[in-house]
Amino acid sequence: MKVLVLAAFFALACAEPIVYFREQFEDGDAWKSRWVESKHKSDYGKFVLTAGKFYGDAEKDKGLQTSQDARFYSLSSRFEPFSNEGQTLVVQFSVKHEQNIDCGGGYIKLFPADLNQEDMHGDSAYNLMFGPDICGPGTKKVHVIFNYKGKNHLINKDIRCKDDEYTHLYTLIVRPDNTYEVKMDNKKVESGSLEEDWDFLPPKKIKDPEAKKPEDWDEREKIDDPEDTKPEDWDKPEHIPDPDAKKPEDWDDEMDGEWEPPMITNPEYKGEWKPRKIDNPNYKGKWVHPEIDNPEYTPDAEIYKYDSAGVIGLDLWQVKSGTIFDNFLITNDEKFAEEVGNETWGLTKDPEKKMKESQEEEERKKREEDEKKLKEETKEEEDEDEEEDEEKEEEEDDEEEEEETDSNLKDEL
Ligand SMILES: *[C@@H]1O[C@H](CO)[C@@H](O)[C@H](O)[C@H]1NC(C)=O
Repeated sequence: MKVLVLAAFFALACAEPIVYFREQFEDGDAWKSRWVESKHKSDYGKFVLTAGKFYGDAEKDKGLQTSQDARFYSLSSRFEPFSNEGQTLVVQFSVKHEQNIDCGGGYIKLFPADLNQEDMHGDSAYNLMFGPDICGPGTKKVHVIFNYKGKNHLINKDIRCKDDEYTHLYTLIVRPDNTYEVKMDNKKVESGSLEEDWDFLPPKKIKDPEAKKPEDWDEREKIDDPEDTKPEDWDKPEHIPDPDAKKPEDWDDEMDGEWEPPMITNPEYKGEWKPRKIDNPNYKGKWVHPEIDNPEYTPDAEIYKYDSAGVIGLDLWQVKSGTIFDNFLITNDEKFAEEVGNETWGLTKDPEKKMKESQEEEERKKREEDEKKLKEETKEEEDEDEEEDEEKEEEEDDEEEEEETDSNLKDEL
């Protein structure tokens, strides 16, 4: 018995990961036979294969890049259909917004096998949509949208995406116990239960429609003290005629009308009288609406489950193109996905950063040299101008001298 349990344990622990889909674009133009562009619209933007302006490895970092601004993109790839029933589902890919994106999608969609790839478009029914979406400073989020019984549901939590120009790894894990995890660059950024973080099911509890707050339920914590009475001398007018004011001597009642002293604020005015507050002896606390089990609620142990997945697609809009998608992986094995992430994104991320930084350093140096050159050139021009001025002055001096000689001559004559 013990042996059997151990054997079963090892079988589980050592089970080979199932790879449903993997695409790393490492065989030149051959990707074109694996990816299909939709013909739903005639002017979809073109994807090109490139490692981009900077990269960690010229070959390994080649991926699909959006190449035209202000376009919709619609490209997909098919794999052997599968159901994730009883299995963990891991969807992973890398995104690099090397164009410093202002607005555009960076997400993938997972479709059922019956998708017509040539007619794929924004409203094509999908199983899930996952990945970063950026539009202006206001939208920088990771979408996690699941289709449940024909309706798309957005996650209730805010997951901020990366918005720099480097390659980042995005991983979505959906487990058969209806839990999920989102990772960025192989680090967990969000996790929890599918039921709690999406509105797939109606709420478990609702307010009892039969229950009503009793009429005599007193929610007032403090009340006016009934014993307190207004003092008799409380009421005084707010304004009174200024007792110090005097009728001016030159006041003419007939011309100026009857004189009236100006009004001033009454120093004895006390404002409106309010009784003192005391604790309400009948206070019962806030009334809490009792809850009952929601009759509309039925638990679903298989929220995570899709009967069919068979196509992965890039269905996006981009204002500024240049995003590179790479390292697609769909598997049933979290650890394997993490390893693959380490061996792809993990290996090239630092060299990629280095290349970008050295490019920036080169650019900075070149800019400085150009500026220096420009400064020297303008200085030379200024020097030349000065020389010309000096020459002119000398000529003028000569002329003057000549004139002088002339007059001298005249005098002598
Ligand atoms: C991936 O790399 C990280 C960082 O080096 C490491 O901590 C982790 O164990 C690696 N994961 C796997 C599955 O190899």
